[in-house]
Amino acid sequence: MNPNQLNDICLRQLTFSGVHEAETIAVLSRGAERADYADSFMFAAQQLGASTYHMRLPDATDASGAWAVGESGLAGNPLAVDALKQADMLVDLTFLLFSKEQFAIQDAGTRILTCVEPAPLLARLMPTRELRERVEVGDEILKKARTMRITSPHGTDVTYQLGVYPTMTEYGYTDTPGRWDHWPAAFVFTGGADDGVDGTIVLAPGDVLLPFNTYVQNPVKLTIEKGFITDIRGVDGASSLDADLLASYIKSFDDPRGYGMSHVGWGLDERAQWHGLTQFPGGMGMELRSFYGNVMFSIGPNNELGGPNDTPCHFDIPMRGCSLFLDDEPIVVDGDVVVPDMRPGGK
Ligand SMILES: [Fe+2]
Repeated sequence: MNPNQLNDICLRQLTFSGVHEAETIAVLSRGAERADYADSFMFAAQQLGASTYHMRLPDATDASGAWAVGESGLAGNPLAVDALKQADMLVDLTFLLFSKEQFAIQDAGTRILTCVEPAPLLARLMPTRELRERVEVGDEILKKARTMRITSPHGTDVTYQLGVYPTMTEYGYTDTPGRWDHWPAAFVFTGGADDGVDGTIVLAPGDVLLPFNTYVQNPVKLTIEKGFITDIRGVDGASSLDADLLASYIKSFDDPRGYGMSHVGWGLDERAQWHGLTQFPGGMGMELRSFYGNVMFSIGPNNELGGPNDTPCHFDIPMRGCSLFLDDEPIVVDGDVVVPDMRPGGK
């Protein structure tokens, strides 16, 4: 994407995010990463009359892998955190999510937009107000529910006890003080009670293992008791390389909280493609979290929702073809959203 096109989509993004001339927009990057994004966001902020600056952190020095969450480059850097708290909006090009520093910046009223995906994907999944409204319909329904049950033809049958943690929306922009979002995105989620997730999840071929950036090839059976995964294996005694890889990955963190059940919800963007990983293997998988009718569950921390689990072991798994019920009412049936107000065009 050439610089003019990147400028243009960043200008559209900051317009959605309500940036105006009385505001200060901070842009945070790390090392040499996404310097072009930083330039385009600052250009866009200036076009909208806002003040702007770019804070650049040193390169990451640890080798814990791209998916170990919660350790931000801002840790132990209170002056930098204080500076970002003064901004009206922070554009995060580093992926601060799950860090204490991100929560502190949000608590100060600064809204945060994370932007780390490849530019062509940002352009193709530009947010829309219509999609935001449909995500917010999901939020209204989800926050009233007390149980979520997920089933699939492959043998998934798991129930989450709800009502402890808030629901969260992601629709790809943020114009609300203190609110975080991620561009691109279109989904809604919450978390089960800490000891309130029980049942079986069977990962089927084509479900997505996001930290591995791969699709499941061999079915994987997960047994969940009182909010924690207690067993990971192939189905009906069959060997499963995917089960072995998943089990090995979680075990490597040497943290029992890595087996916890994290966020759970469904995706709503009909433009997002299930096969997206084949097109953007270097991204973070936001297209896969967003594709229409996917049911995504997650393993690991729940501090994003206000819970106590802040393990760095985090694993998102969008699944195809599932059904999702809230208090026994169908919301997603066989991978299709059945609530009219959440469907494209309201039909
Ligand atoms: Fe996640």
